[in-house]
Amino acid sequence: MTTNDGGIDALLQEDRTFPPSKDFVSNANISDPDIYDKAKADPESFWAGFAKELDWFQGWDQVLDWKAPDAKWFINGKLNASYNCVDRHAKSEKRNKAALIWEGEPGDWKVYTYWDLLREVSKCANALKSLGVQKGDRVTIYLPMVPELVISMLACARIGAPHSVIFGGFSAESIRDRVEDSQSKLIITADGGYRRGSIVELKQNVNDAINADSPIENALVVRRTGHADDLMVSGRDVWWHDLVDSQSSVCEPESMDSEDMLFMLYTSGTTGKPKGIVHTTGGYMVGTYATTKWIFDLKDDDVYWCTADCGWITGHSYITYGPLSNGATQVLYEGSPDYPDKDRFWDIVAKYGVSILYTAPTAIRTFMRWGEEYPNRHDMSTLRLLGTVGEPINPEAWVWYWKNIGGERCPVVDTWWQTETGSVMISPLPGITTLKPGSATQAFPGIDADIVDDKGNSVPPGGGGYLVVKQPWPSMLRGIYGDKDRFVEQYWSKYPGEYFTSDGAKLDEEGYFWLLGRVDDVINVSAHRISTMEVESALVDNPKVAEAACIGKSHEVKGQAIVAFVTIKDQISTSDDLVTELKQHVATKIGPMARPDDIYFAAELPKTRSGKIMRRLLRDVAEGRTLGDTTTLADPAVVESLKSQYEDDE
Ligand code: WT7
Repeated sequence: MTTNDGGIDALLQEDRTFPPSKDFVSNANISDPDIYDKAKADPESFWAGFAKELDWFQGWDQVLDWKAPDAKWFINGKLNASYNCVDRHAKSEKRNKAALIWEGEPGDWKVYTYWDLLREVSKCANALKSLGVQKGDRVTIYLPMVPELVISMLACARIGAPHSVIFGGFSAESIRDRVEDSQSKLIITADGGYRRGSIVELKQNVNDAINADSPIENALVVRRTGHADDLMVSGRDVWWHDLVDSQSSVCEPESMDSEDMLFMLYTSGTTGKPKGIVHTTGGYMVGTYATTKWIFDLKDDDVYWCTADCGWITGHSYITYGPLSNGATQVLYEGSPDYPDKDRFWDIVAKYGVSILYTAPTAIRTFMRWGEEYPNRHDMSTLRLLGTVGEPINPEAWVWYWKNIGGERCPVVDTWWQTETGSVMISPLPGITTLKPGSATQAFPGIDADIVDDKGNSVPPGGGGYLVVKQPWPSMLRGIYGDKDRFVEQYWSKYPGEYFTSDGAKLDEEGYFWLLGRVDDVINVSAHRISTMEVESALVDNPKVAEAACIGKSHEVKGQAIVAFVTIKDQISTSDDLVTELKQHVATKIGPMARPDDIYFAAELPKTRSGKIMRRLLRDVAEGRTLGDTTTLADPAVVESLKSQYEDDE
């Protein structure tokens, strides 16, 4: 097992805990003091209790139908996700409440009340219909963090067209693969977006991605930057302001079956091909609604801000669907945290009076490096709760966040989950759970998480192993789009009937979970999932490269950084320019977030006698560790030469 468990053992012994404050009256506490026990005794009733807080066009006959690995939740229930996120608030006393407070990177801003949102979502839904999008059709969305991103997702949900959002940092080629796999007939995009003062060339990427064979028939284009009017292709592309603005603001929401697909979202697995993770409507809405309500403890007067992008699952569950189904007021921000200066986040917190902030450890470590000076410039006394997600948080960063952002007053909820789980699985409940910096603490009520050894036996307190989930939960993935075999093989075959997370974890003496990182070939760079295989295929795609092997190396800020070992073809000579060229090649093929930090040339890659690349050895080399067992190596000298070259470079 490969985990980044250095130092955790030591921390487990240090008894740094943060008991809940009596002043923190949480939503979970108000509901019931014995929630964990009750949920455990009868998980179906527990989840059904939350389901009843949503609006259904038709009630369900049965809560769960479970034949591993296939789960169906809220059988025969009918509902619409956009109705639950928008209409029911727009038609209540919340109609004039701010739903979205959006700020663009250049400083422009817009506020949408729930009533505004209802009108905009309905207009967009009508526009989609006018472009021939029907229930069941897939729509790709490739936008910057502008309000139209949330509006498009909800408009798709309104007419029953599953969306596939692609993060704006992905390249043309990544768009092409995902559009092809999902067979989307429409792409919603923008001319560009703003990031660190520059323009991200979204429309150019879309134009490059769509060739004659593409299933895309139309592009609906938001005019954000105004710099790319000449990139509009006549007959195919239509401006948002031309089409959407003139639509009727009334659109009946489609009545969707609980198990109808709400969306798919591509994520990296252990092969070069990304997986389209499928989520359905009823269970996903129940999972995101419930966890948002209890973990983020939303109250009517809160101002909630999740700094994620809707291109990732965090933005789906904890921007679009969870907070809006709870009728929250939330902040959306388009750009980077250091533009125009390194206090941008704290400026936003102060300006809108943010009370709940949800961000990633990699961002926290960056703020830590920048120093307290930046948060200290602003009055952040409105904050009352902090959250983190995406990768293990080191206790130092946790404590820094608690102290310097939370003013030693706000609980920190470290939330563990995945694209596949749909909603948070392991997290403290604020005001209830005693916090331990670096630990995601306990499974959410109703979630049966466990840590098991290779044979599937639960490890005792103090032990480590693989994190699994033993019982189904409402927002679990229903499949990989178009690939049932991969779904079964990836998640359900290591321990039949149990969900395999691919994460390593430890249990402390009090039964708290400590997440240690992926055990597979997935690298977590700044809380973004990247597969070693994807980067390797991008590298060998360059004609100068013969073979490549990538690994994740621990990185102070990013959590992990990508390191590539490359053998080049005969006749080619190594140079700094070639390093730059190869790094750029990966960025162009996948996206800038997949650019390797380091590339090392090797005459040969270390392999077993059967020809399998020994990544463990490469990791040892990259981390500067003493080499492990090399007896299975075809040529142990190869590793030694790699290692000495690496050390010379450092
Ligand atoms: C992987 C899932 C879930 C939204 C963002 C990432 C890692 C996520 C934590 C956490 C330790 C974490 C795991 C997981 N991860 N949250 N709180 N502590 N590790 O979603 O791209 O699907 O990645 O992120 O390794 O498997 P994702």
